[in-house]
Amino acid sequence: MLFPKLLLLLVVYLTQVICEESPIANDANANFDTNVYEKSSIINGKPDDVIGGGDGSDESKKRNEDDAISSNVYTIPTVTLKSGHKMPLLGLGSDKLEGGTVKLVKEALEMGYRLIDTAKNYEATWTESSEVAIAKGIAASGVPRSEIFLTTKIMPDFFGIKEMRKAVKECLTDLRTDYLDLLLLHHPSCEEDDTDCSATGTLLEGWKNMAAMVNEGMVRDIGVSNVFSQQLKNLSMEGEKPISVLQNWFDPFHQDRRTRAVAAKNGIAYTGYSTLGVVWTDEGVKENPVFIDSTIKQIADRRNCAPSDVVLKWAVTRGVAVIPGSTNSTHLRMNYNSLKVKLTEEDLILMDGLNNKLTHDYGSSGIGGGEL
Ligand SMILES: NC(=O)c1ccc[n+]([C@@H]2O[C@H](COP(=O)([O-])OP(=O)(O)OC[C@H]3O[C@@H](n4cnc5c(N)ncnc54)[C@H](OP(=O)(O)O)[C@@H]3O)[C@@H](O)[C@H]2O)c1
Ligand SMILES: *[C@@H]1O[C@H](CO)[C@@H](O)[C@H](O)[C@H]1NC(C)=O
Ligand SMILES: *[C@@H]1O[C@H](CO)[C@@H](O)[C@H](O)[C@H]1NC(C)=O
Repeated sequence: MLFPKLLLLLVVYLTQVICEESPIANDANANFDTNVYEKSSIINGKPDDVIGGGDGSDESKKRNEDDAISSNVYTIPTVTLKSGHKMPLLGLGSDKLEGGTVKLVKEALEMGYRLIDTAKNYEATWTESSEVAIAKGIAASGVPRSEIFLTTKIMPDFFGIKEMRKAVKECLTDLRTDYLDLLLLHHPSCEEDDTDCSATGTLLEGWKNMAAMVNEGMVRDIGVSNVFSQQLKNLSMEGEKPISVLQNWFDPFHQDRRTRAVAAKNGIAYTGYSTLGVVWTDEGVKENPVFIDSTIKQIADRRNCAPSDVVLKWAVTRGVAVIPGSTNSTHLRMNYNSLKVKLTEEDLILMDGLNNKLTHDYGSSGIGGGEL
């Protein structure tokens, strides 16, 4: 449903990196907090001494193991958004948690997750929306609302002002809260969506109407999703309220560089979705390339961790917030701890080099906007 018109024509593993495009001048698209993720180390794309010092030696492997097992002191790094509020750079994606949503949200919060990404149209069961189930999970965890960062998204059906206000009020009721940390316009239009989406406004109208929700105190930060470089540039110039966050498909083979560069230039924090490669399997690739790619596997072996750890840590080090979802408690915990893994500069550069290793043709209007 989320990638309805994507047509995967061809997937080719190339032995060499192709189409290296305009490099990102500055990977840090906003202000990174915490002394672990020093702003400078992110800007330069360099792993920081504390978290990035692995060198592949036995000593380093041991450090990775020790950290993963024994460290109780662990704070997820954050980025400060345009409102001044902080967004964790790692959170829980809630699409497809299905019947497990309540339990998994509770477990994740108990582990330490403090961001949950959802959408008005995600469903936990036939009769219960993800938002309603998430509220139950939050209540069951006992973690105070004020400690949790809640993101939700609304489709173009709600871009009109009346529809927008009604939808946001429903989100608040369903999530049992009186404010959203972040509200995103889920898709710029209905064109790329096969569902019964029926727009009540244009992207620009939706944007202006969403800004009104901030003024009314229902929402702290606002942003867009599935929007690409030119459209993002246009929207950033439209004023009203600045764009706080952009959420797009980002994985090792699809690094969305052109759009990330626009985001960085405009101080827009960038969140990646399907960072663990789900787009590829959704579109028919047999084995998820993120888990079988030889480069990723080699790095994971050297650092004594899992491919998922390598991908999530690399993404966050490059300034991309991540929201992996999982129905498996072991994976939830692995992902939560993934940022403790130590990667070297060399590892990060190898990961950067995977961009476009898989090729595809998504057409000009689908996810990715025809841009790689
Ligand atoms: N804005 C948008 O249009 C948009 C689109 C898509 C997604 N999203 C958001 O982004 C979130 C994440 O995206 P996604 O669900 O497409 O993909 P994802 O988080 O990249 O991957 C989830 C998949 O990876 C597996 N997985 C997770 N952790 C793993 C681990 N440590 N080891 C092995 N497998 C692991 C999960 O299987 P198991 O359950 O077996 O662990 C699941 O199949 C969604 O939940 C949603 O909130 C937004
Ligand atoms: C951006 O704005 C220009 C000028 O108004 C317009 O021609 C163009 O179509 C817009 N591009 C997108 C992708 O919205
Ligand atoms: C959860 O993930 C672990 C580690 O990948 C795996 O061993 C286990 O079988 C998975 N559990 C389920 C229920 O799929």
